[in-house]
Amino acid sequence: MISIQRSGVTKIAALVGLMVSARCLPAHDHDAHTATAPVAVDPAVLEKPTAMPDRICLSLTAEPATSIAISWRTDASVLKPVVEFALAADGPRFVEDKQTVAGTSQSLTTDLGTAKYHEATLVGLAAKTKYLYRVGDGVNWSEWSEFTTAATTAEPFSFVYFGDAQNDIKSHWSRVVRNAFRDAPRAAFFLHAGDLINRAESDAEWGQWFYAGGFIHRTLPAIAIPGNHEMARRVVDPNSDETFRELSHHWRPTFALPTNGPESLHETCFFIDYQGVRIVGLNSNEQQELQATWLEDVLADAKGWKIVTHHHPLHSASKGRDNPELRDLWQPIYDKHGVDLVLQGHDHTYARSDLMRYPSKPNNGRVPVGESNVTEGANLRVAGGTVYVVSVSGPKMYDLDPKPYMRSAAENTPLYQVLTVEGDRLRYKACTATGRLYDSFELRRRDGQANLLIETNGP
Ligand SMILES: [Fe+2]
Repeated sequence: MISIQRSGVTKIAALVGLMVSARCLPAHDHDAHTATAPVAVDPAVLEKPTAMPDRICLSLTAEPATSIAISWRTDASVLKPVVEFALAADGPRFVEDKQTVAGTSQSLTTDLGTAKYHEATLVGLAAKTKYLYRVGDGVNWSEWSEFTTAATTAEPFSFVYFGDAQNDIKSHWSRVVRNAFRDAPRAAFFLHAGDLINRAESDAEWGQWFYAGGFIHRTLPAIAIPGNHEMARRVVDPNSDETFRELSHHWRPTFALPTNGPESLHETCFFIDYQGVRIVGLNSNEQQELQATWLEDVLADAKGWKIVTHHHPLHSASKGRDNPELRDLWQPIYDKHGVDLVLQGHDHTYARSDLMRYPSKPNNGRVPVGESNVTEGANLRVAGGTVYVVSVSGPKMYDLDPKPYMRSAAENTPLYQVLTVEGDRLRYKACTATGRLYDSFELRRRDGQANLLIETNGP
């Protein structure tokens, strides 16, 4: 690895070299001019933290009507990180009523160097209210950014769901996340269903994730659960070839997600009640049985809509992939408690199901519909069960494995999804990277009856 100092010198030397060549070389001396090939900027230079906050991220807490969590990064020189916040106002004098909250810090040594990550949770906030906040050390400050707390009741809202970003995050995922924001700028949160990056401990890739989302990450809170690519491979001891997988050291410093799941899975398994929807995030990488037990209680207790997200799909969309143990373990629980929708990633294709119940045998080609499934006309379907979605937002693509239960599917198509919940109606749309509508449907919850699935994008 090239040291930061050395690469900085290299960069300056290259710049001086270019200036010299521009000034001194005769115009016809093309060979001499082109002999200096472009040099890639060292990621350690690009991602070097300073005392100025960067990688600022809002995370939803378990009490989104009265609190919000903020995390950010600086260099090691920052000793007293703080958040200032105030009720939002039209004019700039809102700062006169600002409050200050101290942050907590932890060091993170990465493959590129050492940084400090800071976290603060604002509590006692008013529901359904706009606030402004900034983070800093008293001298170096971020800009004032806005967020809005949730309502305490089941009011309409939208959110955006992304499958894997994972690869070429800066060059390709940028346009997807930015078009999603253009499409749903008032979204309550962005939900990331794992594999946000490709190499769990790559500081540069986490930096790309923040570059791509830019200010969006600091104005719309995140819900995120880890995929297999957020699990780092570790050696048991230096003298052994034996390895195991462990959550990336970046995960908990980068986000400040709820800790209401099993203790060993804090910030990777949790639930959040948001305006009439219970959103459950599961960590499909590890301790799946433990989560099954926890999930039973969390779903039994839920009222209103129930949406679950995890990375590995219960019904795979790509060739040669299947997760039968996870399906056998979790799908009966979803059926028992009436989970409405499951949002997944991992397969680098798009597939959105019909209403489905366990047992389902998609790999045997059987149509996996429930006993109560009845088709009424071309577009109207009455059925029991859950809608399962696999999606992808980055550029890595696998081949689709078409199955009868798929109501919509795609390959070679990065997508973002906007979901809008209004009372007993949930409207869903999947859009391409250019914002083109690709798939849509509506779910209706009905008292004492199975959900109604209405295809709104044609049969
Ligand atoms: Fe994955």
